[in-house]
Amino acid sequence: MTTPTAGTDPNAAYNALYDASIGVDGVPRRYERMRREHGAVAPVTIAPGLGAWLVIGHPELLRVTRDEQDFSHDPRRWNLLREGRVPADSPVMPMVMYRPALLYFDGQQHRRTRSAVAAALARIDGHELRRTVRAAAERLIGGFATAGEADLVTGYAQRLPLEVIMGLLGLDEATGQELVRALAGTVRADAGSAAASRRMAEILMAHIVDRRRHPQHDLTSALLEHPAALSDEEVLHNMAVIFVAGNQTTTNWIATTLRILLCDPDFRSSVTAGRLSVDDALDRVLWHFPPTQNFPARYATRDLTLGGQHIRAGDMLVLGLAAANADPRVLPEDGVPVIGNRSHLAFGAGPHQCPAQDPARLITRTAVDTVRRLLPDLELAVPEPDLEWVVAPWSWGLAGLPVRFTAPTRHPEPTAVPGPTGPVRPRRP
Ligand code: HEM
Repeated sequence: MTTPTAGTDPNAAYNALYDASIGVDGVPRRYERMRREHGAVAPVTIAPGLGAWLVIGHPELLRVTRDEQDFSHDPRRWNLLREGRVPADSPVMPMVMYRPALLYFDGQQHRRTRSAVAAALARIDGHELRRTVRAAAERLIGGFATAGEADLVTGYAQRLPLEVIMGLLGLDEATGQELVRALAGTVRADAGSAAASRRMAEILMAHIVDRRRHPQHDLTSALLEHPAALSDEEVLHNMAVIFVAGNQTTTNWIATTLRILLCDPDFRSSVTAGRLSVDDALDRVLWHFPPTQNFPARYATRDLTLGGQHIRAGDMLVLGLAAANADPRVLPEDGVPVIGNRSHLAFGAGPHQCPAQDPARLITRTAVDTVRRLLPDLELAVPEPDLEWVVAPWSWGLAGLPVRFTAPTRHPEPTAVPGPTGPVRPRRP
């Protein structure tokens, strides 16, 4: 069998995670075939010439995420990078590039930083956050409601989490927009990326300096106040991770849930009739269409065997969250998880498991509920097979979700206004 670092069979496009030619319907078949041919750990390519292992077995994925001795989160260990085989402008770099933030730390260094981030997120007041999200959702819908048609990805699912997370960090709208432009420039991984990345750091640092002087009810102030005493530089990199980790994931979760409500009549009628609560529906999406299908990454700290494969020190292991959720060893025979079963891996597992599950769920549930309440006769404006997708090795996300609906005779009245203080509670003395 070919090892991932030696390159892969050019005829086997099914194992090229960046290859869109299999189509979105081919994705589950791709994972089934990998499981059949390779077992729980499959050789894949994440970009032409860049091999990695995709961990698709549920227990194997738990081992990789829980065992920090054998599997590090630090991309500077990646053998292909160390050997100079990854071009600086490779499209995979934005997601796997080292930053001094919790997502890339192991052990004690991770625990210290995570304690501050988790404590800041725990201070989010659920009631305030719901009001904030509902107000933003009603405003966005109000902006397109009279047209009787909209794109629920570009006009809603992409904009709502962005606005809400900016607000949580305490960034005003203009600064937020500038940050989004700088981030887009950074992620493009081209000649302008270094300047965009410097601009992003400048914007965040100016905000941090301001919050050191004038703390507010926001995540930035909560991070600065935490007893772990993070430096300004550390707060900056962790804010960037919160911003990046929270946006596309929540966008995908909202967009996929809306797509299934529109395209799957059984799913829709179960939710409408109350046989499936919106929360159960959200769980179903996390089982079958996790917002990040494949999460980069872990790096083997030594030569070892996993799922019968020989892994070399420094090999990249990608967390195959979607495929591991479909592992026949954990799913009932009909492939439908029991209601209330949250043992899916959409949020990862182990010490790096997503610390923002509650706010992410609240944002997504409120986003979906508000659409259902204000646009009850929503329907897809194009045939489902014509929906366009953005394909990355890490996920297939909807590029757009064109819908039509009866335009309300008058502008929907806002029922929610954001609270006066912001959704992050002050620290108890
Ligand atoms: C408000 C929205 C969100 C925020 C602020 C957020 C924040 C974060 C942060 C800071 C981490 C790093 C944790 C660490 O390394 O210790 C993380 C990890 C993670 N998040 Fe989230 N997240 C959000 C939404 C989501 C959603 C909707 C999903 C998918 C359902 C998700 C999936 C993950 C996964 C899989 C990891 C684990 C990565 C790993 O094990 O390496 N996140 N998130």
